[in-house]
Amino acid sequence: MLNENPLPPLPSVAAEVARRANDLNRYPEFYPEYLKKVIAEWLGAPQDRVAVGSGSVGVALQALQACVRPGGKIVYGWRNFDAYPLLADMTGARSAQVPLLPGGRQDLEAMAKESVDADAVIVCNPHNPTGNLLAASELREFISLVPSDTLIVLDEAYIEFVSEDVRPDSLAWPWEFPNLLVLRTFSKAYGLAGMRVGYGVSSPELAARTNRFQLPFAISNLSVAAVEASLRAENELNARVRHLTVERDRLAHGLRAGGWRVLPSDTNFLWFDEPSRVEELAALLIGAGVEARCYPGEGARLTVGDTVSNDAVLGALGA
Ligand SMILES: Cc1ncc(COP(=O)(O)O)c(C=O)c1O
Repeated sequence: MLNENPLPPLPSVAAEVARRANDLNRYPEFYPEYLKKVIAEWLGAPQDRVAVGSGSVGVALQALQACVRPGGKIVYGWRNFDAYPLLADMTGARSAQVPLLPGGRQDLEAMAKESVDADAVIVCNPHNPTGNLLAASELREFISLVPSDTLIVLDEAYIEFVSEDVRPDSLAWPWEFPNLLVLRTFSKAYGLAGMRVGYGVSSPELAARTNRFQLPFAISNLSVAAVEASLRAENELNARVRHLTVERDRLAHGLRAGGWRVLPSDTNFLWFDEPSRVEELAALLIGAGVEARCYPGEGARLTVGDTVSNDAVLGALGA
């Protein structure tokens, strides 16, 4: 039901975490400077442009705390990732939710208009829960339309599942747009959801403001070890991502053959664009022993599972 990677940690990652378990009596670094250095070197970015936090949702909260005034306005498309309204509440802001366009597209034109008097705007690309991908050109145009004193959070939690030929080169954009924070995570493609490490890339000024809201001691030594071991095993992890995208496309194909309207997806999940069949769908999936995230009257999101679960879904819903 949550958008997790169905594959267990790589043995090399699990072994490194287990090895570090002997140090649990020790505090981690006060602020995670070492982890920032590791991530910055991996990205080939200056360290002063990187912020890290407890998952990418933690980095988003830090940036919003830094940039949103109490009573200020945060704009985002809706439906969207469940945490956005909670982040708005936590920062004492009001949410301006802009309805999605058909096909799960975020309405960038309407969002740009709404952002004129907003403190922050959040774009999710690719989008949760529909899997829709906004093209680099339209995103860049949107970013250039947002006032330069409005924080733009570009949430790319699923970006590694986007095929490289259409993946936006968004990590380069903060050099041009000092109000842009590009958010990424080790939770999805890297399979470390339980370790809670996300990062953001932005201008040095925005990174510094975001890092000022970093909770001391918040990133554990085990999490740092898991990230380092994962970066050493990047080729294996990339192969897993390719496997999941092949499974995603197999599932989508089989479900469409079974008569279901399934949107194209650039993530590790699929969206059933079936507002009037959600209950029927939920019953069939429960019968197959599979949980999906159902939104009555809207549709349902199914996370790509391991091959056995995907076969079970296709057995129940396929042609
Ligand atoms: C769009 C989006 N952003 C962020 C997150 C949170 O990821 P993290 O584990 O890095 O906090 C999720 C998790 O489901 C998500 O769907």
